[in-house]
Amino acid sequence: MKFSITAFVLGLAVSASAAPTTSYFAGFNLGATHRSGSCKTTAQWQQEFNKLKSWSTGGKGTFNTVKLFSTNDCNALANAVPAAIATGTKLWVGVWNVDDAKFGAEKAALEAALKKYPDTSKWLKGINVGSESLYRKDITADKLAQQIYDVKGMVQVAYKAADVPVGTADTWTMWVDGANAAVVKACDVVLMNGFPYWQGATINDGLAKLKQAVWDTRKAVGYSKPFVIGETGWPTKGPNFGSAVASVENAAAYWKAAACWLQTTNYPWLWFSGFDEPNKSSTIEQNFGVALDTQPLKFSLQC
Ligand SMILES: *[C@@H]1O[C@H](CO)[C@@H](O)[C@H](O)[C@H]1NC(C)=O
Repeated sequence: MKFSITAFVLGLAVSASAAPTTSYFAGFNLGATHRSGSCKTTAQWQQEFNKLKSWSTGGKGTFNTVKLFSTNDCNALANAVPAAIATGTKLWVGVWNVDDAKFGAEKAALEAALKKYPDTSKWLKGINVGSESLYRKDITADKLAQQIYDVKGMVQVAYKAADVPVGTADTWTMWVDGANAAVVKACDVVLMNGFPYWQGATINDGLAKLKQAVWDTRKAVGYSKPFVIGETGWPTKGPNFGSAVASVENAAAYWKAAACWLQTTNYPWLWFSGFDEPNKSSTIEQNFGVALDTQPLKFSLQC
């Protein structure tokens, strides 16, 4: 089946019910590969999801949500959904959207999961179509908006998961840019990525930078638009960036400031990231985990 439901038809189909929204949750972004580049199996996803839950500190520090970047790289969704169901973990599923062939393959992998696991309440928290694709200038705002309507049509209409919010994840700089208004309109939910490290901030300014990004994004997209922190975090190793210094000490301080602040809010958030990803190409990108890839935590997650 080919889904190309237009915004107009989708509007008619879903206008009877309120747009899906989201409420507080917390968790981590995870990659799909090991150090060697091999893919995580269902048993390995299950072990990792249990590990993340074991880090929970109670209340709003309950880590039961995981964001993935791709549905079909490494058969990520096919392998991770049974692990999510087994562990009571919810997935925020990333549908990679560039190029068209990749977008088609990603949608097909999502459709296969919806068919095989129709009770989405057991595993599916939400969906982002594309991750920083506007920031990288991989796509136009109008085309991304159409992709979002396309995925909404498939998930919410064809597969009747009307309560699953669909949006996109992008940097706060993209959300405050009025040129992307069509994307904001298409989204049930806005996922904001914000990295004070990449703003060259000192660790002492980290929380203030994140808060400013949240305020500015929410003001730009409208306070009634459901909002999720898609990614934030601080690297533990690698070169300095402006006044930002990568170190375990600073990553621990940023967690204490930002993750602990977020637990006083109602903003759902997904830390970047759970485990180090030594298969990535740059030192800095390899070292964003709160834990090593071998899983010991680098610092305490207590607030
Ligand atoms: C990542 O995995 C691929 C595939 O196994 C391998 O060729 C590559 O060298 C790995 N990259 C790093 C940085 O280890």
